[in-house]
Amino acid sequence: MSQKNGQPSDIALYRRLLKYVAIYGVAFVLSIVGFIGYSVANVLLADLTQFLLDSLGESSHMGIGLVSQAVHSLWPQGDMSAVDYARIAVPAAAIVLALVRAVGYFLGNYFMNIVARGVVHRLRTEVFDALIRVPKQVIDRYTHGELVSKLTFNVEQVSGASSEALKTIIRDGLTVVALVAYMLYLNWQLTLVFFAVTPAIAGVVLVVGRHFRRYSRRIQDSMGEVTQLSNESMSAFDEIRMFAAADQQAARFYAASQFNRIQSLKLAFVQAVSTPIAQILLAIALAILFWFALDPKILSGFSPGSLVAFIAAATQLGKPIRTLTNVQSIIQRGLAASEDLFAQIDTAPERDGGQLELDHARGDIHFDGVSFGYPGDHRIVLNEVNLEIPAGKMVAFVGRSGAGKSTLMHLLCRFYVPTSGGIQLDGTPIEHFRLADLRRQIALVSQRIVLFSDTIRANVAFGHKHRANDASLRQALETAQAWDFVEALPEGLDTVLGNGGDELSGGQRQRLAIARAVLKDAPILILDEATSALDNESEAAVQASLEQVATGRTTLVIAHRLSTVERADLIVVMDQGRILAADTHDSLMTENGLYASLYQQGFGQQ
Ligand SMILES: Nc1ncnc2c1ncn2[C@@H]1O[C@H](COP(=O)(O)OP(=O)(O)OP(=O)(O)O)[C@@H](O)[C@H]1O
Ligand SMILES: [Mg+2]
Repeated sequence: MSQKNGQPSDIALYRRLLKYVAIYGVAFVLSIVGFIGYSVANVLLADLTQFLLDSLGESSHMGIGLVSQAVHSLWPQGDMSAVDYARIAVPAAAIVLALVRAVGYFLGNYFMNIVARGVVHRLRTEVFDALIRVPKQVIDRYTHGELVSKLTFNVEQVSGASSEALKTIIRDGLTVVALVAYMLYLNWQLTLVFFAVTPAIAGVVLVVGRHFRRYSRRIQDSMGEVTQLSNESMSAFDEIRMFAAADQQAARFYAASQFNRIQSLKLAFVQAVSTPIAQILLAIALAILFWFALDPKILSGFSPGSLVAFIAAATQLGKPIRTLTNVQSIIQRGLAASEDLFAQIDTAPERDGGQLELDHARGDIHFDGVSFGYPGDHRIVLNEVNLEIPAGKMVAFVGRSGAGKSTLMHLLCRFYVPTSGGIQLDGTPIEHFRLADLRRQIALVSQRIVLFSDTIRANVAFGHKHRANDASLRQALETAQAWDFVEALPEGLDTVLGNGGDELSGGQRQRLAIARAVLKDAPILILDEATSALDNESEAAVQASLEQVATGRTTLVIAHRLSTVERADLIVVMDQGRILAADTHDSLMTENGLYASLYQQGFGQQ
């Protein structure tokens, strides 16, 4: 996130936001036309006072009011008395002006919402599109809560800025311009006196704006934390109870929420203090105005009616100026949020330098001196890994936790790029293939099973929902030993899993994930501890069917179970990022190395 302050970046931000607004150009123009109508009608309603008052005294100043001039040219007074004439003309003009103002208000507000909601929708979808395509290492940097908060809270902030704030700026800005123009028309000297205090008001606005942005950024970041803590705690109800961590978790939440409260209060303080200051300045201006206005020299240029109209216009200025100073906080919040959202949108998607198309790989895999450390982390996770895996073989990876087994698989999927060395598929470096083509060759059941809050059908056919038919789905589920329990569910394949499949048992979740991989029908199958949550019986059944699935595919299994390991064509023993040995079960046992000791500790005895 960039923390740039100052003018140039602001202008760049505005310009970029305007590009979004430009997409809804027609609605925007209609809205502005509406607001122009609204503010002009507002001014003319003030001008109507002049018409009314001056008609009382048969005044000789009738010429000065805008409405009275217009009405007189449309409908000559003839020999009617001024009061009789005004009795009809003033109410009629008031109704017409009120109608114009009403229509203007509707057009302005509604069409500005069309623009604002459109901008928000676009921004939100663009951020989402960018987020699901960024490299894994970028996602690793954020907590899930932070990411969710970007899509919800930050986007809403921009929406506030672009609907409420834009509306206020245009409506009240135009009203101010129209009122000032009218005042200048009535008496320019007096108007200039009134505006002697303008620089002071502008100063307040500027200083306040700077504070608003700073607090808004902090509020935004703390909302990310609040969201994260909420998500985390909602999905850890059992742990919180069993580890008696309610107090601890509540304290963390309290701290995050408290920080958010304090920053919001600071924002509210600046906001609450800036309006009265602006009001006081305005009152001073009015006081000076009254003093000058009652000066006989100036007074002689006014009719009583036009003097009242002038003061009415000057007093009317108060409200729009107040809302304009207030709206700053919304704008600054929106700018701070859009800065962050644009940074997300600008994050480059996963780099795909590969040109080669790949329809169906044979499945020869070669790890060639692969070393790797996670970005921003100096530890070496994989160290000079050399391994040749012929197509169609089943290879088991064993080793202590943290040995780097999952990481090795992730490099094969090109989630990360090795620091040195390379990986080849069918003799070609994997980075030469188009990313999508490469990933189509690999069915991955990862260590952390992920199910979506959707139907079982959609979960198993994830990514190719429209191509899978019932027969192939059933076959995949049968292979994964999942058909029996799916069939027993009330809605079968169309059962909707709530909350990421929480209502299923660990083994059931695992079998659905296996079925998903089976349905993908890829030449390479990676099972990362895929059978760990199964009981002995279903494991034996899944084993048998996996062997069926494994035939004709290169299968990489990370397993703690003896049965899986023993059946493998090759067992790779890993420790601290290195391959210690790669051989069959029998030879490894005779070597009496790490494998034998892991075996004796009973990694396969469950
Ligand atoms: N996203 C990540 N960022 C930084 N370090 C990571 C990340 N993922 C894993 N590591 C580190 O890399 C090392 C290897 O992790 P890996 O998940 O590959 O181990 P593993 O052999 O699969 O272990 P297990 O059997 O427990 O699954 C560990 O020290 C781990 O802390
Ligand atoms: Mg692992």
